[in-house]
Order: sequence, then C-alpha cells, then structure tokens
Amino acid sequence: MTITNPSPKARPSAFAARRQFIQLGLATLGAAWLGTWLQSRLFPATNSTQEAQPVSFPLSELPVGGTKALTYGAVPVLVVRTRESLRAFSLVCTHLGCTVEWQANKKEFYCACHDGRYDEFGDVLAGPPPIPLEQIPVSMEGDTVTVGEV
Ligand code: FES
Repeated sequence: MTITNPSPKARPSAFAARRQFIQLGLATLGAAWLGTWLQSRLFPATNSTQEAQPVSFPLSELPVGGTKALTYGAVPVLVVRTRESLRAFSLVCTHLGCTVEWQANKKEFYCACHDGRYDEFGDVLAGPPPIPLEQIPVSMEGDTVTVGEV
C-alpha cells in the first residue's frame, strides 16, 4: 500500500484561503445589509413619531407629581408633570427598543430587557442605552395639554 501526499498544487495556498475568507466575510456583510434594507422597505418602523398627530387632554387629568400614559403615533408616551415642568417621553428604550416603565417611587424609567435606567429627564443613568429617551414636544394652552408638534 502506498500513501501519497497531495501535491502542493492540490492544496489551497494561504493566499487562496485568505481570499476565500474575505469573500465569505464580504458576502455575509452584503447579505446582512440587504436584509436590513429590505426589512426597512417592506416593514417601515412603527415606532416613528415623525408623522404622528398631536394628542390633547385636559390638564386636570395630570396632577402635579403625576403621569399620563398615551400613544403618540404608534409610540407609547408618558407625560410627567412636576412642579417645575411638563415633559413627554417616548417609552421606547434607545438601546434595542424595548418598552421602558416609569418607576414613580424612584423617579426613573427602567428597561427590564438589559437593566437600562433613565432619570426623570430621560437621561441615561445606567445600563447599555446609548442616548437619552426621546422627548416629545409638549405645549399648554389654557387648560389643555397637547403632546406633539402643533
Ligand atoms: S433594550 Fe433597553 S436596555 Fe436594552
């Protein structure tokens, strides 16, 4: 019985292996980009506030120190009233889009997905969220509060 080594020409060279690796990497990146692009075209984001209609409610529904939940466009929003301010925040976490919850006792927004925390102004306190919560414009005319661009 004879054992033969494959000839050096039958084995891929280091250069060819590296080229295959790079081609595979580029193909993977291209497929990922194409998938993301197709998803954005076929299933437009439903958490956009860009085309949302303003939402109004009487100020009496929101006492000082209280909150009011509503939906602005398709976005869950919480309006927070303090003695000094009236602010509205998107409840969509800026990390990966989970819905955050308001913890009134701590005056914080909490995202249970990855322990993200935001303060009462929407600024990041802890966890992976990269930027503050989106603030939605709020205006008041007489006793009517309006959330969103008027
Ligand atoms: S999605 Fe909110 S912390 Fe990750």
